[in-house]
Amino acid sequence: MRKPIIAGNWKMNKTAAEAEALINELKPLVAKSKPEVVLCVPYTALWVAGKAIEGTKIKLGAENVAWADSGAFTGEISADMLLEAGVEYVIIGHSERRQYFGETDETVNKRMKQALAKGLKPIVCVGETLTEREKNKTKRVLKKQIVDGFKDITAEDFDNIVIAYEPVWAIGTGKTATAEDANKTIGYIRSLVKKIWGQEVGKALRIQYGGSMKPSNAKELMAERNIDGGLIGGAALKAADFAGIVNYKD
Ligand code: PGA
Repeated sequence: MRKPIIAGNWKMNKTAAEAEALINELKPLVAKSKPEVVLCVPYTALWVAGKAIEGTKIKLGAENVAWADSGAFTGEISADMLLEAGVEYVIIGHSERRQYFGETDETVNKRMKQALAKGLKPIVCVGETLTEREKNKTKRVLKKQIVDGFKDITAEDFDNIVIAYEPVWAIGTGKTATAEDANKTIGYIRSLVKKIWGQEVGKALRIQYGGSMKPSNAKELMAERNIDGGLIGGAALKAADFAGIVNYKD
């Protein structure tokens, strides 16, 4: 019922020229993909990437969006700018933004509302740090991120939202949550959404796992009932690795 969605999060990697080369290498490898495939690329690569994916099923994504329409927000990028470049999805609240750039549940909420109002589809990241996990605070942290981050978001809005559960300790560390563990935590997020926004919303919501996902563990993770896709960092920078995840069923 829920179509799997595999999204690459390129972070601050790849110039426009490198992006074009990577996408051209990737295209034939994911041509028959069953999941929805999204590439979230740096702003300067958006136009080139948009051109490179023309005529394919690959969707274009960005890595952030401003909450304001336009104006004095140095260094930010507006929804209209992204839409003009052909962007459909946008990552919001990645742990690196929370950790290094002062992103909070409140700013996540503002960005998400703006994205939805403009017709962009947010991929909203949540997840606990290692310390929080070791102190058994995972559920409490996730609950706060969902309750505060999704304040005033309606049941209808969820038609266009994807959540990415990314345990911070698993990002770029080579440590993956076990499939069972990830499934359990994502199940908790789903139950929370059901409780707040209704059974149907929770059932239909796509929730990705993110954190050192690679071809060798994708199949096992994707086999879990609650896991509907992946947000892929490191492994998205190599065509063969990303394709290996997209084609996890083969
Ligand atoms: P990783 O990153 O796959 O390199 O762990 C995932 C992410 O940060 O989205």
